[in-house]
Amino acid sequence: MVVRDAGGPEMLAVWDVIDPQPGPGEVLIDVVAAGVNRADLLQRQGNYPPPPGASELIGLECSGRISGLGPGVEGFEIGDEVCALLAGGGYAERVAVPAGQVLPRPEGVTLVEAAALPETVCTVWSNIFMLASLRPQETLLVHGGASGIGTTAIQLGKAVDARVIATVGADSKVAKCLELGADTVINYRKDDFVEVVKQVTEGHGADVILDVVGAPYLDRNMRTLATAGRLVVIGMQGGRTGELDLGLLLAKRAAVLATGLRARPVQEKAAIVASVRDNVWPLIADGHLRPVVHTVLPLEEAGEAHRILEDSEQIGKVLLLAREP
Ligand SMILES: NC(=O)c1ccc[n+]([C@@H]2O[C@H](COP(=O)([O-])OP(=O)(O)OC[C@H]3O[C@@H](n4cnc5c(N)ncnc54)[C@H](OP(=O)(O)O)[C@@H]3O)[C@@H](O)[C@H]2O)c1
Repeated sequence: MVVRDAGGPEMLAVWDVIDPQPGPGEVLIDVVAAGVNRADLLQRQGNYPPPPGASELIGLECSGRISGLGPGVEGFEIGDEVCALLAGGGYAERVAVPAGQVLPRPEGVTLVEAAALPETVCTVWSNIFMLASLRPQETLLVHGGASGIGTTAIQLGKAVDARVIATVGADSKVAKCLELGADTVINYRKDDFVEVVKQVTEGHGADVILDVVGAPYLDRNMRTLATAGRLVVIGMQGGRTGELDLGLLLAKRAAVLATGLRARPVQEKAAIVASVRDNVWPLIADGHLRPVVHTVLPLEEAGEAHRILEDSEQIGKVLLLAREP
């Protein structure tokens, strides 16, 4: 699947390209399904080019079977059912990826569903837990609770016994967030999240905030943070430049953190994937975390998948099927 020219979903087209070859330390995967992420829309529009050396094809995660091993790969065999975190190339029938970014299909999850996991789980785990160190009984505020990222963050927050508050933009998304375990769900189009968080935490505020909105929420997030709170910005859907009240930051002894996963060095991604395998995969096996799949479309319908995300219709993930499992 290639982007014929920067533009709308109609620019996505099926195309014959040369098969990737696994280099040293890489595995080749026959892709079964690929996850669709908001970043894919930006790449299609020409606003999010792949990092140097990455595939030009869109797609940050996939599931499938290993069909080739590059020199020096240990721990995987041909035929293994896996999912993988990619720097690109997921919207395809085959992809080569460093072995450190590959995870076994988790117990109790189908091979198709497994495509919904790598990008969201690695993002949420690395930011909320490895970086912001969310602890039991703390309050986590998740913006965009019904997104792929949000549905994962709600479940992982509850898995460690945090209080979870989520924001959504439509009443139709409230029930699913509650079902996933959120303690409070706020429709941000109707209610001011600063006030609601203050009320439900009896003035304490949120210890950790996972933000996907950016500039327009910076001041409100700062006012919502508890003392010693951690604001983690992973998306800038509303803009990148905002005003930060340093007095408030200092008075709250708070931290503002921000990370992007895609451009991180291979070794850092491998460390995140290893931590996910050790800490999150058992939570899937014991039922604390389930992939939330909105719909599965054939790879040829990637344009329709992008339209669904553009209109924010989805709850959880949209997946593309490259071949029958
Ligand atoms: N930094 C990283 O490494 C990294 C990695 C992965 C994803 N991300 C970011 O994480 C975000 C979610 O990604 P995704 O793939 O899961 O996308 P997605 O499913 O398309 O979700 C986007 C979400 O943003 C929410 N949103 C938009 N405006 C909002 C607002 N004003 N207040 C609260 N929520 C708002 C939407 O909620 P409603 O539809 O309910 O309005 C929607 O649920 C994206 O911004 C993406 O770029 C970052």
